[in-house]
Amino acid sequence: MLNLLITHATLPDGRTDMSIAVQDGRIVEVTAGLDAPAHEKLDAQGLLVAPHFIDPHFHMDATLSYGLPRVNQSGTLLEGIALWGELKPLLTAEALIERALAYCDWAVAKGLLAIRSHVDTSDTSLLAVDALLEVKRRVSPYLDLQLVAFPQDGVLRSRGGVANLKRALDKGVDAVGGIPHFERTMADGAASVKLLCELAAERGLPVDMHCDESDDPLSRHIETLAFETQRLGLQGRVTGSHCTSMHSMDNYYVSKLLPLIAEAGVSVVANPLINITLQGRHDSYPKRRGMTRVPELMRQGVNVAFGHDCVMDPWYGMGSGDMLEVAHMGLHVAQMTSQSGIRQCFDAVTVNAAKVFGLRGYGLEAGCDASFVLLQARDPVEAIRLRATRLKVYRKGRLLAETPAATASLHLADRPAATAWMHPKH
Ligand code: FE2
Repeated sequence: MLNLLITHATLPDGRTDMSIAVQDGRIVEVTAGLDAPAHEKLDAQGLLVAPHFIDPHFHMDATLSYGLPRVNQSGTLLEGIALWGELKPLLTAEALIERALAYCDWAVAKGLLAIRSHVDTSDTSLLAVDALLEVKRRVSPYLDLQLVAFPQDGVLRSRGGVANLKRALDKGVDAVGGIPHFERTMADGAASVKLLCELAAERGLPVDMHCDESDDPLSRHIETLAFETQRLGLQGRVTGSHCTSMHSMDNYYVSKLLPLIAEAGVSVVANPLINITLQGRHDSYPKRRGMTRVPELMRQGVNVAFGHDCVMDPWYGMGSGDMLEVAHMGLHVAQMTSQSGIRQCFDAVTVNAAKVFGLRGYGLEAGCDASFVLLQARDPVEAIRLRATRLKVYRKGRLLAETPAATASLHLADRPAATAWMHPKH
């Protein structure tokens, strides 16, 4: 007898009336109209079942610290970095762990079951590294947390930057990060990319760098990152995060750059909520959006995913761990409003993010982990439009979270009582 059978599900690819059979934490069959004995049966009633959400870019060491010790007045990236510098000496491992665990609870409730988090390695104590390694251990029964060694103050710019980052990797951090645009000079930025890619190659680790998070069209570290990826044979293991300067680059240069990124197999992560908030802050009008060139990268065959980046921290006071909100902002900023564009934005927080993460067993096919979400929506487009309620969240066949359906009860004069959940009838 099956452990779990889901019936009458709609899948993200548009197939309807699908059954998903689960045994021992894995999907054993996905087929139309299957009925079989099972310990638990769930009738999806035509609603969407999707693989769980993945956040490929987050900062869990800073999350839920909004207002500590003060709020970012200018709203800029640089004041955020300065503010994080003020907060760091005040951090305790206990408080950091408590905030991170609270965020992971939010994430699970939203069907977000895998998070790649950068962790600041600039501080010699490596307090945040130890704390997030502990969080990773504690959440492992219900959430995949991957950590990137992130030298927030610049691996070359800060004293002991290289040594601290290596110590973080020695402790078990999963990937090598960087921040070349924050180094003192363009030359130092390029040198940091080379050094960090060589370190990753030596240790067999993935690379995920904050790359060109700037409005400066001459910030071109993504070019160096793609070049080093090819030189060192790191194809498929490297991600450039943010890449906002690409928004402002000369079109001719971009026409040369995009094929280089595609050839190198470098993934790009845009962070729509943060990019639209932090970029263009030095502009008057017109004010640049600042997000990287998402549809153009996708058309070139580059794997593009969307990250949340920040939730209630020195850079951003909003957010709730909802990757549909991220996709919603992404499609607006990138003007990806066609049906296929919206679906691509859904992919950006699911399958594309899984490629960045290198997550095994992800998807809705026989043999994949039974880790999926039942959404109060008929398809991915409606899921994004409504930031749909996650009715049920499963991981490896186990129910982790449930949220009641969002349905308004209407009490309108001279009309019978009615309910609505913003779904058109036709
Ligand atoms: Fe970031």
